[in-house]
Amino acid sequence: MAATVVLTLFAILAAVTARSKSPLIDEADTRMVNKAAECVFGSQIKDLGSSWIPDLGPPINVLYCTRCECVKTQRKKRIVARVQCRSIKEECPEPTCAEPKLEPGNCCKTCPGEPSNEALQDIIPKNVAEEEEKNSKHYAALLTGRSSLVLRNDDNKPIPNDNKNNVVATGRFNFHRRSLYYSFYISDRAARPYRLQFVDPDANILEEITLSEAGGSVNSVYQNATRKVCGVWKRLPRDYRRLLKDERLFVVLVWGATNEFMLSGQIKRYAALDTELFSSLMEPAPGTTSMQGAGGTGIIYTSTSLTPSIHVAIVFNGLFEANETKDVPVEITLMDERKIPILKEIRIVSKPALDLNLVELSTVVSGPDLRSLTRGRLLLTVASLSRPHSLKLVGNIMTKTTCELFQTLLVPPQGDTTGLAWMYLNNEGYLVYNIQIDGLGHQKPDLIVLSDMSTKRKVELLDITSSYHNGWANGTQDKITPKIIEPLYSGNLWVSVAKGNYSMTKGNFTMAKGKLVPKLVADARDAPAPILLRRESNVPSSAVGLAWINVDNMCNLHYDVTLSGLGHPGPLDVYLEMLPMIAPGAPVIPRHLGEIVGGNLDGSTNDILRREELRRLDSGVAFLKIKDKSSRHNLTLLAATLKQIKVPATCLPQLTDDNNVGLSHLDANEDNMAQNGGDCFHGGRFYTDEASWTSALNPCEICVCRNGQIKCDTAKCPPLNCPNGQRLHPGDCCPVCIDNDDSFNDDNTPRRCQFGGRTYGHGARFHPYLIQTGFDECIWCTCKATRNETEVQCARIQNEKCCPTCNHPAVVDSMNGSMIGDRPRDAFAHHRPHHDPIQETKLRAAKIMSEGGCENPNDSLQPYKNQQVYHPVIASLGEYKCVTCKCDKGVTKCERPQCTREMCDKSRKARRVCCKRDCIRYRHKNKNQRAKGIR
Ligand SMILES: *[C@@H]1O[C@H](CO)[C@@H](O)[C@H](O)[C@H]1NC(C)=O
Ligand SMILES: *[C@@H]1O[C@H](CO)[C@@H](O)[C@H](O)[C@H]1NC(C)=O
Ligand SMILES: *[C@@H]1O[C@H](CO)[C@@H](O)[C@H](O)[C@H]1NC(C)=O
Ligand SMILES: *[C@@H]1O[C@H](CO)[C@@H](O)[C@H](O)[C@H]1NC(C)=O
Ligand SMILES: *[C@@H]1O[C@H](CO)[C@@H](O)[C@H](O)[C@H]1NC(C)=O
Ligand SMILES: *[C@@H]1O[C@H](CO)[C@@H](O)[C@H](O)[C@H]1NC(C)=O
Repeated sequence: MAATVVLTLFAILAAVTARSKSPLIDEADTRMVNKAAECVFGSQIKDLGSSWIPDLGPPINVLYCTRCECVKTQRKKRIVARVQCRSIKEECPEPTCAEPKLEPGNCCKTCPGEPSNEALQDIIPKNVAEEEEKNSKHYAALLTGRSSLVLRNDDNKPIPNDNKNNVVATGRFNFHRRSLYYSFYISDRAARPYRLQFVDPDANILEEITLSEAGGSVNSVYQNATRKVCGVWKRLPRDYRRLLKDERLFVVLVWGATNEFMLSGQIKRYAALDTELFSSLMEPAPGTTSMQGAGGTGIIYTSTSLTPSIHVAIVFNGLFEANETKDVPVEITLMDERKIPILKEIRIVSKPALDLNLVELSTVVSGPDLRSLTRGRLLLTVASLSRPHSLKLVGNIMTKTTCELFQTLLVPPQGDTTGLAWMYLNNEGYLVYNIQIDGLGHQKPDLIVLSDMSTKRKVELLDITSSYHNGWANGTQDKITPKIIEPLYSGNLWVSVAKGNYSMTKGNFTMAKGKLVPKLVADARDAPAPILLRRESNVPSSAVGLAWINVDNMCNLHYDVTLSGLGHPGPLDVYLEMLPMIAPGAPVIPRHLGEIVGGNLDGSTNDILRREELRRLDSGVAFLKIKDKSSRHNLTLLAATLKQIKVPATCLPQLTDDNNVGLSHLDANEDNMAQNGGDCFHGGRFYTDEASWTSALNPCEICVCRNGQIKCDTAKCPPLNCPNGQRLHPGDCCPVCIDNDDSFNDDNTPRRCQFGGRTYGHGARFHPYLIQTGFDECIWCTCKATRNETEVQCARIQNEKCCPTCNHPAVVDSMNGSMIGDRPRDAFAHHRPHHDPIQETKLRAAKIMSEGGCENPNDSLQPYKNQQVYHPVIASLGEYKCVTCKCDKGVTKCERPQCTREMCDKSRKARRVCCKRDCIRYRHKNKNQRAKGIR
């Protein structure tokens, strides 16, 4: 019992401590998003099933006798990954020699000449992922009420699937670089589902993804315009990749926060998916009676070559009577908008199944029929032959279910016109396009066209010149034929911008062009629009970049950056620089997003963005910069200003005092945030926390920045009685008397006193300013700046207010009053009106550090003294007694005590706490030896 407790504690410790550079604190800014199907260990993400030797960083470093593993654990209906660490010391083989040695980097002692038997690497070899990438990439699911999956609630009781409204959904899945991209079409009458679950055949939830905001809305232009549900499940663990490959993975769409309604379906491979161009979502036809919960999906592709043809595959259920068990015929019909059949064919389903059946057909069609296909006007039906009116599924042929868009950079053959273009098909099958053209000035392009440049054709397909306005060609095109859709999906459609008498075959007069590339929509590419990266320094005029930046509901930042025209790009760095606003001294938070090697960088931050970063992205200014690290000064090659990064409201600090906020607000270390948020903006400048300054507008006003708040005080000027008149030195608050003193430098500039970071002219009188309390109106100071020296003299004012116990004369204000010390600094110290504990603690901490003390990662105000011996403190666990540290002249050294036999024999405490395992081993050895002795 106790042993497991110790081990579990250790597991927590390991997971907690390895979080950051300094293992002893939980740092808020390295919080990670923990998904159900992966472990987070420190700043690393570990695959389910992987194992490793924990490295906690200094001072504890690598724990060679510990193995950690990312294992599955079952929590009710969910399977979640969890880090489990155990000691392997007792698994060490008994050494065969008298004097075994402990080699560095090993846990077990070995004899000279023996190989060490430790596996240091993560167990999963790297090439596994690549190998699986070669497998089929396209999958589909039909989600109906007739799924073979039995959904269960928390008490393991089956949930009745009550699909009165005949809601049907269909999904498409693309497996790419260990990530599973998903896309769904759902019956029009259903709202957007609330959640998506990936489950195993026993309905255990492997991963769950929230799809909608409260109220079923979605914060995505693309998903709103297409009525699709899009996203990605990143980093599938190996076990789940195998489930997918074996067609043993299911998806469940959930409506309502309390599982009010669900649809489920099996993810399967279908050959037709590789070439799919159109999809259909098929529902029970109006008038059918006994088809509750049934549905189907069509996978369709066309060929526009010499003889136009269409290929249809239908996955469906619900068309069979109970006694129809073998070789059942169904009729497939394709009708145009006037309900005239274009084709009608019968297919035999040899083994009718309750959940999934497949029928396919291929046929030649006419050109006009093919064109009506793209306009969503063709109706696909599949019906029972025995009861064609009551067993019938029907659906329109629409744009392919997969969430896809098409993008390109526009690059000039010569000159400096650049740009970008992106487009997609909306739910009506219209082409929505956005083209940005840069470097034209007031010129207008004479031609903007989409053309098919595949070797076969080279035809101009769509002239969209008329939509050009002010650097953009935005529009929606409704007459989209398969002649455009085919090259669009196969990556053969080009955008060309030209002037004069453009000729496509010759290509002269082209200002810029680019080939549209299909991209799956998720994460970064789910942002409203990409951003054009423009060249900054002396780089080729053809250089241009495109970046998608998006912040998701988990407050993660996603980015996808594509560059072109840079010629020889070595490794380039991508930085995001975030400012609260553009102003001198504005503090910058830089974030290194990654390195571009090929010309593309697609990724996400693994840690949640800090609040201040989110705030700046949302309402400040951010720059995306591509820097050349090989050049001097990290030359910026391309840059863009990001103005409209939409940050989900749940990620932004709330302005109310409401404590009832979402998970994303639970910053473990608010101080950290305050430090970044503590900057002040005043008079067009930024000031750091605790800074004080004289207002640029009013020299009598001194301001201080504290926790982001500005407090300003106005100085009072003393009454003057000047025999020779008075004058105001430039930049000073108060005028001074003109006297005959020689108070000018040789170059005739006035001599000035330095005091508290400010300067005062000769003769100036002022109240000293204290950051804590403002002007101390009980002290007058005077600047005396003569040729030989400058001096500030301060005196306490002896009046009722400032010195109630003084026997003060009638004179309120006098330089003849008692002087307080000879240096004004002392006047402060002695007469500071309020005791300042923070300042004192800081001073004490600085003193300890200057005497060879060591930093305390938990509390910078409580450093360890030189020669102090202590146990390190782990923020969430308290003192870690098994490690002892010593501060020695500024250097922290920590060690785990050796658990000797003597210690075990002597100290019960040693046995109980840190040496438990070693002591047990010694006990066993003792027993064995005793046993041998008897024999
Ligand atoms: C969603 O689409 C509808 C119509 O298609 C439109 O009226 C609405 O403004 C869109 N909302 C967003 C957030 O794009
Ligand atoms: C199946 O049963 C129905 C009645 O429910 C009957 O009309 C039909 O002929 C039967 N079909 C076969 C193939 O037995
Ligand atoms: C074109 O669309 C983009 C992206 O939605 C937008 O930023 C831009 O202002 C639009 N331009 C015009 C002229 O409408
Ligand atoms: C374009 O061609 C027409 C006739 O083919 C010619 O008249 C015109 O001058 C040409 N324009 C340019 C800019 O070359
Ligand atoms: C370039 O930037 C990196 C990262 O910020 C920095 O480590 C490096 O010193 C910089 N190099 C130069 C020459 O400024
Ligand atoms: C100032 O310095 C001059 C010589 O540089 C000296 O003669 C004079 O006595 C000094 N005055 C004071 C007040 O120290």
